[in-house]
Amino acid sequence: METITSLAYLLAAVLFIFGLKRLSSPKTARQGNLLAMTGMLIAIVVTLLDQSILDFTYIIIGLVIGGAIGLIAARMVEMTQMPQMVALFNGFGGVASALVAFSEYSAKSTMALGQENVIWLELFPANVSVTLVLSLLIGTVTFTGSLIAFAKLQGIMRGAPVTFPGQQWVNALILIVALGLGGFFVFDPTLMNFLMAIIVLAAILGVFSVIPIGGADMPVVISLLNSYSGLAAAATGFVLSNNMLIIAGALVGASGLILTNIMCKAMNRSLTNVLFAAVGTEGGSGTISAEERKNVTEYSAEDAAMVLDSAQSIIIVPGYGLAVAQAQHVLQELAEMFIDSGKSVRYAIHPVAGRMPGHMNVLLAEANVPYDILVEMDAINDDFQNTDVVLVIGANDVINPAARTDKDSPLYGMPILNVDKARSVMIIKRSLSPGFAGVDNRLFYDSKTMMLFGDAKKMVTELVREAKEL
Ligand code: TAP
Repeated sequence: METITSLAYLLAAVLFIFGLKRLSSPKTARQGNLLAMTGMLIAIVVTLLDQSILDFTYIIIGLVIGGAIGLIAARMVEMTQMPQMVALFNGFGGVASALVAFSEYSAKSTMALGQENVIWLELFPANVSVTLVLSLLIGTVTFTGSLIAFAKLQGIMRGAPVTFPGQQWVNALILIVALGLGGFFVFDPTLMNFLMAIIVLAAILGVFSVIPIGGADMPVVISLLNSYSGLAAAATGFVLSNNMLIIAGALVGASGLILTNIMCKAMNRSLTNVLFAAVGTEGGSGTISAEERKNVTEYSAEDAAMVLDSAQSIIIVPGYGLAVAQAQHVLQELAEMFIDSGKSVRYAIHPVAGRMPGHMNVLLAEANVPYDILVEMDAINDDFQNTDVVLVIGANDVINPAARTDKDSPLYGMPILNVDKARSVMIIKRSLSPGFAGVDNRLFYDSKTMMLFGDAKKMVTELVREAKEL
């Protein structure tokens, strides 16, 4: 049985690795998901066949309740609320790892009650105690940190950074004390109170390390917490001597870190800056004068359809507003009409457009946009200058030229799509209000910009209707 279990775990691990690899491109992502899901199913079934399980009652109750909650959440949660959902999943993953590790400790320690310290040390050799402490520490930090990330994104808490003097020193002190207590525990595993203290300190550390981070940086934090939840699982794997958990945890830990790095690069920020600089304010950064604000050129759908009709090359720039309005299907209908009339039409994808990695790719894949007209920022940025019309739908920060020109802007240094270089720009959004970073956008007042005010779905539907009449 042991050999079968090991082989099945090996197969599951291979499926995870191939699944992850396939997730790196929109073309193969669905297949990647299927592979990884199959791997997880194999891992769960084989684990359930373990002969040391005497009673399945609680396992079945857990599976039914957990499965039902997962199913309902997956059906009800909107695409735009996905980051919050992932935050909760990470948090629960972290706390699950910590609980499993703790229950292993409490089961073994019951056996050793009243025994000499030597017996305890035999039951809890240094490698087990160290990973037990790490699992409790990282798992609990992930749990409380993720709850704060969830609360900020869900609007339960204010998104603005919450700071107090000496915050980073306090955090460092909490971490040092927790690690110190962990050190004592390794030499004396009877010290259960120390484990309790580590859990309390880790819970506080999770809260204190996420509250100073602004709402706009939450997706990066969530990805980092995802990585932590993997590390906690891997640590628990060592406590249980379970290879599957070690491998799966390490894969989650590594891929979470890689994703964090990709997001930081796309925003031209270092991870230290995201974690410690308390970036992000609420409200706009009013750098645009009242005089300039009068220079808005508003277009109707009818006029805009005529401009688009006379264009030869069009680049569509999707952003968060497209996801909110769920305008992807009607947008693709419009794009197909243009393609059928012989125009060059492509979508420009900014790596952090929307609210989560790959947000625009997922959205446009839903509308069956062919992959060959989805072009990544670096591959399309030089083409804007030769483009007749750029049609921006609900994007704001990712096209804000302040990222290039305004050293005081929180967006400064973030690579943006060179929309302002095109011959003319058409922007669909409901108002002149800023995007996620809370920064005004000068492009709205540029003489070559046509503003189409309205909900993205309504406005694109009108454009389709007008274009059909031409
Ligand atoms: P944003 O800058 O957030 O702008 C979205 C715009 O959509 C808003 O200005 C809003 O303007 C408009 N909008 C909202 N609902 C709409 C609707 N129903 N119809 C039409 N327009 C609507 O979006 P972006 O350009 O995609 O930039 C993403 C931001 O998220 C960046 O700051 C990025 O750094 C941040 N972020 C993203 C990620 C990932 S991984 N994607 C990670 C970290 C941070 P109105 O209110 O006027 O309509």
